[in-house]
Amino acid sequence: MGTSFLFPILITLIIFFTLTSSATLTTDQDALLAFKKATIDTNGVLSNNWLTNTSICDWAGVSCGLKHHRVTALNLSNSALHGNLSPYLGNLTFLQSLDISSNNFAGVLPTELSKLHRLKHVNVASNNFSGEIPRGILTNMSALEEINLRFNKLSGELPSDICNNTPKLNRFYLRENQIYGKIPTSIYKCSEMEELSLSENQFNGNIPTEIGNLSMLTLLSIYDNHLQGGIPKEIGHLTSLNTMALSGNNLTALVL
Ligand SMILES: *[C@@H]1O[C@H](CO)[C@@H](O)[C@H](O)[C@H]1NC(C)=O
Ligand SMILES: *[C@@H]1O[C@H](CO)[C@@H](O)[C@H](O)[C@H]1NC(C)=O
Ligand SMILES: *[C@@H]1O[C@H](CO)[C@@H](O)[C@H](O)[C@H]1NC(C)=O
Ligand SMILES: *[C@@H]1O[C@H](CO)[C@@H](O)[C@H](O)[C@H]1NC(C)=O
Ligand SMILES: *[C@@H]1O[C@H](CO)[C@@H](O)[C@H](O)[C@H]1NC(C)=O
Ligand SMILES: *[C@@H]1O[C@H](CO)[C@@H](O)[C@H](O)[C@H]1NC(C)=O
Ligand SMILES: *[C@@H]1O[C@H](CO)[C@@H](O)[C@H](O)[C@H]1NC(C)=O
Repeated sequence: MGTSFLFPILITLIIFFTLTSSATLTTDQDALLAFKKATIDTNGVLSNNWLTNTSICDWAGVSCGLKHHRVTALNLSNSALHGNLSPYLGNLTFLQSLDISSNNFAGVLPTELSKLHRLKHVNVASNNFSGEIPRGILTNMSALEEINLRFNKLSGELPSDICNNTPKLNRFYLRENQIYGKIPTSIYKCSEMEELSLSENQFNGNIPTEIGNLSMLTLLSIYDNHLQGGIPKEIGHLTSLNTMALSGNNLTALVL
């Protein structure tokens, strides 16, 4: 009998791994092509450059991992793009950085983005996004370090379990949107937070005392909201704080 029966098994395994690795490469290409299709490309950044006769890793704004050749970063900031953001982006499993800031994308941020568990940097600032922030982005993205959503038209409330599984989030910019409701107390779970900007929204209720637990905070900007009540004395524990903006609320001078 010998070991000749191993041969077909080996061939099967080789075929399997070849197929799965090319299948994942195709997944990244399909995702980028779906993104291209949903995007209105005024300056031809995508239509002149994202062509299927070249590798996706050579496409403008696309970076790939050196070993696995999967897409790790997408940077198309300030590229005169509009249209909706394709949910297929959620299939770019290896994506660590997404920067589509300073375009004119509209519609919602697809919930599929929450599937990107390796995402560290998200910058969708200065677009025209509306609707709610997909809950999973703020509660579920274990690698997330920075999220910049400022200058959009996002609405709804922040999830009450924000920061539950985003322990590394240290920069959170939400300035100039239409978010309402309370600042969630679970914000204290983002214990590495350094810059928190929630200004020019419609937050109401009190400033949660838990803000005082964000011991690494250097910037706290919450001006122009509808916050009320006293300023929590716990903020006095924040020894690294160098900028604090509270104006344009209904805060009493009383320190609680
Ligand atoms: C890819 O195709 C485009 C036209 O579709 C052509 O202009 C370009 O030269 C081709 N690039 C390569 C590397 O073959
Ligand atoms: C994206 O590219 C712009 C310049 O084209 C740069 O300023 C910005 O820092 C880049 N974003 C990221 C996340 O690297
Ligand atoms: C990618 O994402 C889309 C939309 O979210 C989905 O329909 C599709 O089945 C996904 N998978 C692949 C392999 O493209
Ligand atoms: C932003 O989107 C709204 C619809 O949500 C639309 O009415 C408005 O014209 C858009 N603004 C720009 C600058 O495209
Ligand atoms: C959080 O992640 C888990 C596991 O990937 C997933 O099942 C769940 O739907 C996600 N929750 C949200 C709100 O995205
Ligand atoms: C938050 O800070 C207060 C003191 O202001 C402290 O008593 C409390 O244990 C801290 N909570 C956490 C979860 O670190
Ligand atoms: C402050 O409170 C007053 C009275 O309750 C209200 O009329 C006003 O709109 C509030 N201002 C802000 C900025 O929330």
